[in-house]
Amino acid sequence: MLTEMERFDLNSIDAAFIENPHPTLHWLREHSPVHRNADGSVYLTRHADVLKVYQSRDMLSDKQEEFGKKFGRCPLYTHHTTSLIFNDPPYHTVVRKLISGAFTPRKLAIFEPLIDGIVDRLLDHVEDLGELDLIDDFAKTLPTEIISFMLGIPEEYRSRLRGYSLAILGALDPVVPQDRLDEGNKAVEEFGEILNDLIDHRRKNPDGAHEGEVLEALIFGEHDGRRLTQEELVQNCIFLLNAGHETTTSFVGNSIGLLFDNPDQHRMLQDDPELITSAVEEFLRVESPLQIGNRLAGEDIELSTGTLPKGTYIHTSIAAANRDPAVFEDPDRMDITRKPNKHIAFITGIHVCLGATLARVEGRIAIGKLVKRFPNLRPNGPRTRVPLARFRGYASLPVRVD
Ligand code: HEM
Repeated sequence: MLTEMERFDLNSIDAAFIENPHPTLHWLREHSPVHRNADGSVYLTRHADVLKVYQSRDMLSDKQEEFGKKFGRCPLYTHHTTSLIFNDPPYHTVVRKLISGAFTPRKLAIFEPLIDGIVDRLLDHVEDLGELDLIDDFAKTLPTEIISFMLGIPEEYRSRLRGYSLAILGALDPVVPQDRLDEGNKAVEEFGEILNDLIDHRRKNPDGAHEGEVLEALIFGEHDGRRLTQEELVQNCIFLLNAGHETTTSFVGNSIGLLFDNPDQHRMLQDDPELITSAVEEFLRVESPLQIGNRLAGEDIELSTGTLPKGTYIHTSIAAANRDPAVFEDPDRMDITRKPNKHIAFITGIHVCLGATLARVEGRIAIGKLVKRFPNLRPNGPRTRVPLARFRGYASLPVRVD
């Protein structure tokens, strides 16, 4: 007779797992680190195994087959199979090279004062409100503004972006009801229309880009003599919005939630604001905004429990790897001074997050300034989680600052 833990299946997780996956993840890491799901896929929970998968060139990201079965032919299928994240070289290399141009140290230097300004403006608004939802009234606005700036998205469309992002990413959860698929398809279509218009406009006005604009580099940039097609442009711009938006919103919200749960660490950060640099790494480790990744084994791979055959579909638990006691002492304890901190919230290998530096700067400025400016920052009622297993964040986080 199998125990409840032995029967665990990533494709049929419940609300308790979403609320707190760590008791299950600890058990799996210790007793079943290469855990088999009923559909034949495996779920990896050890840091060393997860790292090995990400560092291997033979572990593939292409999802045409999986998404074909999951979505059928529809806008969500086109979107996810055209985004660089779900592709392998050579297409992945072309898109990544073009997008990388937007994340050079010179470009990022443009963003720092911009982020400072946006955060100061948002904090004035927070002060006026006194009582607020930290997600709606603060955390979600910063990444929307940054991505909108990068893509040149006009003001009037910006309030819709988080809805699009959640609808499109929500369709990536292991189990997705039909209404969520419908919302995801509608979001790809609507956002696609906006971007098609913006791209057409920029093509007709090639010299109209403002400083730091990414769209221009994506439209006119070339790698190995190849430019992106209109469809590739649209879908990768939607992806940039999603990649940089939900994760950063969750990063800021999760960090404040963690400070509320660990008042001693909150006080430490208030007393020594310089700790923000190591604190953001610890927030990313303890509550990683992206918790689960996927690869298809293109060749056999040797893991801690033996060889996994070519053709195996792999789920990596970034969340479990980041609390592996083999790498992190006392892994469930949040320690904002932790050093070294070899978390893999941004993974590693050829798909390593392109926005990691930008996200760190956004987090440092947003969380650092919020904590410093409002010594009375405190919870104001129950928080609710985004009901997804892959993305960990709060749907609402009521706070008071007065
Ligand atoms: C705390 C915030 C963030 C976290 C935790 C995060 C995490 C990740 C992770 C884990 C991946 C790899 C996924 C995989 O291949 O399985 C990834 C990829 C990516 N991220 Fe981020 N990300 C964050 C913010 C951002 C931002 C702000 C941007 C840009 C505006 C961004 C752009 C990208 C891009 C373009 C990729 C695809 C890279 C590739 O496939 O080569 N991310 N991110």
